[in-house]
Amino acid sequence: MGIVFNNVVKQYPNTASPAVDDVSLEIKEGEFIVFLGPSGCGKTTLLKMVNRLYDPTSGTISIDGVDIRHVQAEQLRRGIGYVIQQNGLFPHMTIEANIAVVPRLLNWDEAKIDKRIDELLELVHLDPKVFRKRRPSQLSGGQQQRVGIARALAADPKVMLMDEPFGAIDAITRSSLQEELQRIQRLTKKTILFVTHDVEEAFRLADRIIIMQAGKVVQFAAPYDILMQPANDFIRQLVGERDVYRKMGFLKVEDVYASGDEAAAASEGVSLNDDLKLVFNRMVEERVREYPVVDANNRRVGFVTMDLILTKLAN
Ligand SMILES: Nc1ncnc2c1ncn2[C@@H]1O[C@H](COP(=O)(O)OP(=O)(O)O)[C@@H](O)[C@H]1O
Ligand SMILES: [Mg+2]
Repeated sequence: MGIVFNNVVKQYPNTASPAVDDVSLEIKEGEFIVFLGPSGCGKTTLLKMVNRLYDPTSGTISIDGVDIRHVQAEQLRRGIGYVIQQNGLFPHMTIEANIAVVPRLLNWDEAKIDKRIDELLELVHLDPKVFRKRRPSQLSGGQQQRVGIARALAADPKVMLMDEPFGAIDAITRSSLQEELQRIQRLTKKTILFVTHDVEEAFRLADRIIIMQAGKVVQFAAPYDILMQPANDFIRQLVGERDVYRKMGFLKVEDVYASGDEAAAASEGVSLNDDLKLVFNRMVEERVREYPVVDANNRRVGFVTMDLILTKLAN
């Protein structure tokens, strides 16, 4: 199941070359996929074909085994959440009415919609009592994007398309939104197709990254594999191959730790999901060369040492 692209081409009228050029991909259900590439490489075009804002010139896209050409566009879109940079909220409607748009189209009863609005606002950490009756202009950019995410999740779609959703948000708000999105995905297990031109964002969020260049997919792999084996010079440059410290910022403890109990458990543990750069900084500050590693349930799973980090990164 999941989403499958088969030889997808999109050529706009009167253009010399296709915006999306023979893309074939298999995305698994529940994956967090990030499309990364410079402006103009075809990311938005590719995404818009998934909810049929555009149709391919040739090739096919299927979701859970169904060719989306055989699904009515409106019906398809109700099953796919869509979040864009300019959040697309209706300015004249309250936050609650914005979130209720798709549930109302689906004829949910009002009590169920009401409950869903509270649930979603809580999920994106906006207090329903404070925000339900406000209008989009009475919210900060970051809060508006939270509402955009809540709205996209309203009817519990299996797939979320997100096109540079945090592109216009300041760095600090952006990183808290990134964290929340990861949390939401862990809770809801959506399949997420997320577009960005920001390398750090891609590495922070993705289960797998699709790197695009001039309409083509040039690499499709897990972040760690892209760092360690960039497929071409363009990608090598993009991820800054030789810069060990920079690489660390893209990695987590789970990418380098060793299982087993050898390390002293004297100090407080770090968790699998911690940023390697922060852990490395802490080692340097505390003059400690190793930490025990714990999982999300605080169960000991292994250890991480400075040597392990440096050896992995030196490869
Ligand atoms: N509606 C359109 N008509 C003609 N060309 C377009 C249209 N939309 C995008 N393009 C062109 O297609 C290419 C890919 O654009 P886009 O998918 O928006 O890239 P990205 O999202 O990666 O910046 C670009 O060369 C762009 O100029
Ligand atoms: Mg774009």
